[in-house]
Amino acid sequence: MTDIDNFVQNAYVFNCLRESVFRSAIQALQFPVGSRGLDAGCGIGLQALSLAAAVGPAGHITGLDLSPEILDYAKEMVKQAGLSERISFREGDVNELPFDDGTFDWAWSVDCVGYAPIEPLPLVKELARVVKPGGIVAILAWSSEKLLPGHPLLEARLSATSAGIAPFDKGMRPESHFTRALGWFRDAGLEERQTRTFAGDAYAPLTDDIRSALTALFQMRWPGVESELTLGDWGEYQRLCLPESPDFILDHPDYYAFFTYSMFHGKVAG
Ligand SMILES: C[S@@+](CC[C@H](N)C(=O)[O-])C[C@H]1O[C@@H](n2cnc3c(N)ncnc32)[C@H](O)[C@@H]1O
Repeated sequence: MTDIDNFVQNAYVFNCLRESVFRSAIQALQFPVGSRGLDAGCGIGLQALSLAAAVGPAGHITGLDLSPEILDYAKEMVKQAGLSERISFREGDVNELPFDDGTFDWAWSVDCVGYAPIEPLPLVKELARVVKPGGIVAILAWSSEKLLPGHPLLEARLSATSAGIAPFDKGMRPESHFTRALGWFRDAGLEERQTRTFAGDAYAPLTDDIRSALTALFQMRWPGVESELTLGDWGEYQRLCLPESPDFILDHPDYYAFFTYSMFHGKVAG
């Protein structure tokens, strides 16, 4: 399987965990009916569908992504949903958006702007540039999780590994961490800066979809952690987090987990 196939598969697999969280976030932002919005780093376009529903048939969503292969999947999905008139896609880089100043009524970005190991302030400024005065700029990113109920020490140690803090890196400035985004919004000149935290959860009995998503999440969340754990913790990780283990934690009758997405938003001045 190629990296792109893997990315697309994961996007669909995780959708059952994330979809309701993004619906709540979109609802909270109250994008005007009939407005035109940008989804920056749109991936395969799953959120573009919810964004299009929010702005209605008179509105329009432009999904932008760096990867033409990923955009091919997005275009096909939107075509199959019969929404090609209302959602279009553009290949491009969030560092240098291929749009004139004030093109959009608002901009939205999930797990992309501010959630990459590059200086975030220029990206927030770039989003603000393409939004009309008074329009919303919103960025969201996965910000925490509790996936191993009853095993807080193991989970804390996993969270303290390089994979656990990714895409942040221990050499990076604290100001570069996503949870410091209020400062980027201030420095980008955005007004009415606010945050909202949205939680998703899962608990036993798990549906097949949620079980598959959590199994994939364990693999995605803590890859290559062996070298950063003690032998004992590595053994516990394998016992609890691998599906072939007789003690796989998703089989526990009292399994419960939650995760959060943090949203930062503000309005373009003027
Ligand atoms: C983690 S995925 C998130 C996709 C989607 N927003 C979601 O939440 O499902 C990050 C996306 O950002 C895109 N991306 C990464 N760097 C980018 C850049 N510099 N400009 C535009 N898109 C970028 C990737 O191709 C990928 O589709």
